[in-house]
Amino acid sequence: MSAPRIQIDPSFEPWKVQAVTHALSDHPLLQIDALVELGKRQQARKLVRTHNAEATAGTSFADAPNLHAAATLADIAKAKAWMSLLNVQADPVYRQLIDDVLDEVRPIVDRKDPGMGYRAGWIFVSSPGAVTPFHMDHEHNFILQIRGTKRLYTWDPFDRVVVSERGQELFHDRHSRELVVWNDAWRPRARVFDLEPGLGGYMPSTSPHMVENGPEPSVTISFTYYTDATRNRELLYRGNARLRRLGLDPTPVGASPSRDAVKHAVLAGFTSAKNFVRRRLGRGIRDNHLPYAPA
Ligand SMILES: [Fe+2]
Repeated sequence: MSAPRIQIDPSFEPWKVQAVTHALSDHPLLQIDALVELGKRQQARKLVRTHNAEATAGTSFADAPNLHAAATLADIAKAKAWMSLLNVQADPVYRQLIDDVLDEVRPIVDRKDPGMGYRAGWIFVSSPGAVTPFHMDHEHNFILQIRGTKRLYTWDPFDRVVVSERGQELFHDRHSRELVVWNDAWRPRARVFDLEPGLGGYMPSTSPHMVENGPEPSVTISFTYYTDATRNRELLYRGNARLRRLGLDPTPVGASPSRDAVKHAVLAGFTSAKNFVRRRLGRGIRDNHLPYAPA
């Protein structure tokens, strides 16, 4: 039997940042020539972003992608240009890779964190010294180093010094990272991973993180997904954001499981009624139960 693609601890805790190892560094789909081919296909889908090496930890995450039209795919092969391949599940070949990897970890994940869906993959071909600014994402994330080295700084998703309850609310309610703000004082609170090929990390939904590339070009792949717990948490934060808009001071999410349960029941009812009406009016709804994230 071949080695599992991602090795995770059988006592996997879905809300804890943790180290993983993997066997994907030699995978043919993750070598530069294959990624350049994928880059061409993703470019046609408008799912490529290029970057330069100017960003720092404190750069606004929204401004970080620095599009420069001169970056060509041939330059990527020569390690002169850099790209992020977004939503690679839009590509049938890479969707299969995502399924192969996530299907394999799913039995362990499911024990404590069922409802895996909204699968997606992200591949970063980045320059020596490149910095991915401090930010957080909605999805759970297995981040695996394929080539080169990287220092990954992560923070606990429940560290309310680094990101306040209000910051979480804004993020869930409006996808706003307005209150996800870098401060040098966060450094000592981080768990740091020195990633090299074969190593990776698992970051739960809304774990703040920041990445500094090593001295060589780097290839990293992230496999991301939602679960029932991430969907529920999002709904609760959106509900609290709404209460705050009404001038109330809501109980923080997670502080009272019984209150969360009541709020969740009300919010789930409200959301399905709202979605019913939107569907009848022919309007779109955001369905976070889809098997794959829409590109
Ligand atoms: Fe991220």
